[in-house]
Amino acid sequence: MMLIKAVSLQKEFVHGDNRTHAVKDGSLEMTNGESIAITGPSGCGKTTLTNMIGLILTPSKGELYIEGKDAKTFSTKQTAEYRNKFFGYIVQDFALLENYTVRKNVEIPLLYSSERLGARERKKRVQEVLTKVGLTDKINVLARNLSGGQRQRVAIARALVNNPQVILADEPTGSLDSETGQGIIKLIMDLVAEGKGLLMVTHNPEIARQCDYQINMIDGMTNLMYA
Ligand SMILES: Nc1ncnc2c1ncn2[C@@H]1O[C@H](COP(=O)(O)OP(=O)(O)OP(=O)(O)O)[C@@H](O)[C@H]1O
Ligand SMILES: [Mg+2]
Repeated sequence: MMLIKAVSLQKEFVHGDNRTHAVKDGSLEMTNGESIAITGPSGCGKTTLTNMIGLILTPSKGELYIEGKDAKTFSTKQTAEYRNKFFGYIVQDFALLENYTVRKNVEIPLLYSSERLGARERKKRVQEVLTKVGLTDKINVLARNLSGGQRQRVAIARALVNNPQVILADEPTGSLDSETGQGIIKLIMDLVAEGKGLLMVTHNPEIARQCDYQINMIDGMTNLMYA
């Protein structure tokens, strides 16, 4: 099934007289079990494109279809549900709640889920996903007391806890040593092998090569490198 189809997405930021055409032509397609890497220099629009696809930012122009449905037709409620359940987004700056524990940070998507899981089931799922990222020993530690790599793994656990259909990952291994990073990539790739989709921004060519497709972004435009 077609999970995502983006056709010539554009985003222009306007702050007074200041205009930035961050994405000029963002186009891609993703079906189940497909992984796509986005590479490209700093400032070329990778995060902005990922935010549009993840329904965090509204495009200025272009078409976005999620599971074949035009995202422009989504109600506020539908958009919230897609963000919470369909997408698991590992954001570039992690965006952790600093004064909450690791457990609470990872549990948050479950609290907002329409599934309305009970406390015991939520606890179990948080434990499972923290085991996968190797962070069970920090479960009761406040986010602000974690190292960079540990923060990154909390962000990854939080993105995966709701069992998303599509994983959006913006530099998911940037703060990790290569061994831990490769462990996380394997974890994500195993999920892709189960049929999920992956869109991953990375500066690491070795990681990009492990994806089915590579998109190189230059000055706000996507270019499919090879299949
Ligand atoms: N909210 C915003 N308002 C104004 N300009 C923005 C905003 N967000 C991003 N930009 C600008 O849009 C351009 C693309 O930014 P973006 O964050 O998408 O780049 P990137 O490819 O993710 O870079 P990096 O590799 O450094 O993370 C940059 O010039 C940036 O300054
Ligand atoms: Mg970025």
